[in-house]
Amino acid sequence: MKAARFYDRGDIRIEDIPEPSVEPGTVGIDVAWCGICGTDLHEFMEGPIFIPPCGHPHPISGESAPVTMGHEFSGVVYAVGKGVEDIKVGQHVVVEPYIIADDVPTGPGENYHLSKNMNFIGLGGCGGGLSEKIAVKRRWVHPIANSIPLDQAALIEPLAVGYHAFVRSGAKAGDVALVGGGGPIGLLLSAVLKAKGITVIMTELSAKRKEKALDTGVADYILDPTEVNVTDEVMKITENRGVDVSFECTSNNKVLDTLVESTRATGTIVIVSIWSHPATVNVHSVVMKELDIRGTIAYVNNHAETIKLVEEGKVNLEPFITQRIELDDLISQGFDTLIHNNESAVKIIVRP
Ligand SMILES: NC(=O)c1ccc[n+]([C@@H]2O[C@H](COP(=O)([O-])OP(=O)(O)OC[C@H]3O[C@@H](n4cnc5c(N)ncnc54)[C@H](O)[C@@H]3O)[C@@H](O)[C@H]2O)c1
Ligand SMILES: [Zn+2]
Repeated sequence: MKAARFYDRGDIRIEDIPEPSVEPGTVGIDVAWCGICGTDLHEFMEGPIFIPPCGHPHPISGESAPVTMGHEFSGVVYAVGKGVEDIKVGQHVVVEPYIIADDVPTGPGENYHLSKNMNFIGLGGCGGGLSEKIAVKRRWVHPIANSIPLDQAALIEPLAVGYHAFVRSGAKAGDVALVGGGGPIGLLLSAVLKAKGITVIMTELSAKRKEKALDTGVADYILDPTEVNVTDEVMKITENRGVDVSFECTSNNKVLDTLVESTRATGTIVIVSIWSHPATVNVHSVVMKELDIRGTIAYVNNHAETIKLVEEGKVNLEPFITQRIELDDLISQGFDTLIHNNESAVKIIVRP
């Protein structure tokens, strides 16, 4: 079968590899669609980061480069391994793409996403969604209703990132949120916030993404920092209170500064973006306003509720898909667009 395999920085190859064997306790999935994520671009340009370099096998998967890529995918079950009783061939599914040690508890309330050596399917080994087929441990397979189109279902993984960030913020219906950055993560997070009854103010630079946020209705207000003073506008909108919660989705220090200025006393700032360098923060403001600054990583038992939002039509993922491509065009049409012309796209999805 065809698969996109990461060998090293700048070296991803479309190759023919053997089909996975569907071992006991696993589910064989015919991949329908797989999204390209910012993390995949980081691996290609600056990596390997999550990907275990050649000769340095990951402690849980036992694999190192070359590995199959792709962690945002949907598909149809074509086989189930021995012992899997509750999923049937033909079922539509998405995957919570974790590689986590077998002895880590993953039930409600367990922080398995923070466990030692945690990695992701499609980065740390165990196959990936940028291939025709994959076998995944039953624990990480989530059935979805057939009413969710499989192309949209590929966006459930990044939507779950937004869902977990929302949970981390403690925001509730009636609150006002400021979302810094309207890339795929900022937009999908905003979709969750809107579905939860929160007013969303977004700050974003790119014309296409500002338009997307307004057209889809995931933001109530869009503020462009090149046109207005974002904090002044936030104060007008909130009658000088400031927002209850804010989300940093740009890894830009100016945006973080704006969030600190714009969040109300005792409010919460959630850092969603991945920072490859240290940030500065106005600690005096944090102290004088008793702000909470929190991180958020991936998701933990958030898939069921995330899927429900889509099944119930509270989030429409369709408008966030801006391109559909074939696996052979992964680099030329997928990675190249996102690296050189990022603001023209939101999610590019691949049909393996
Ligand atoms: N915490 C997690 O679990 C998790 C999961 C997935 C991705 N991420 C991270 O989230 C971040 C966002 O991901 P993405 O795919 O949306 O990235 P992206 O680069 O596509 O989006 C960032 C957006 O911020 C905007 N921006 C940049 N500077 C700005 C400024 N000064 N004011 C307003 N807007 C500005 C850009 O125009 C862009 O649209 C990345 O760092 C990514 O690695 C985190
Ligand atoms: Zn991702």
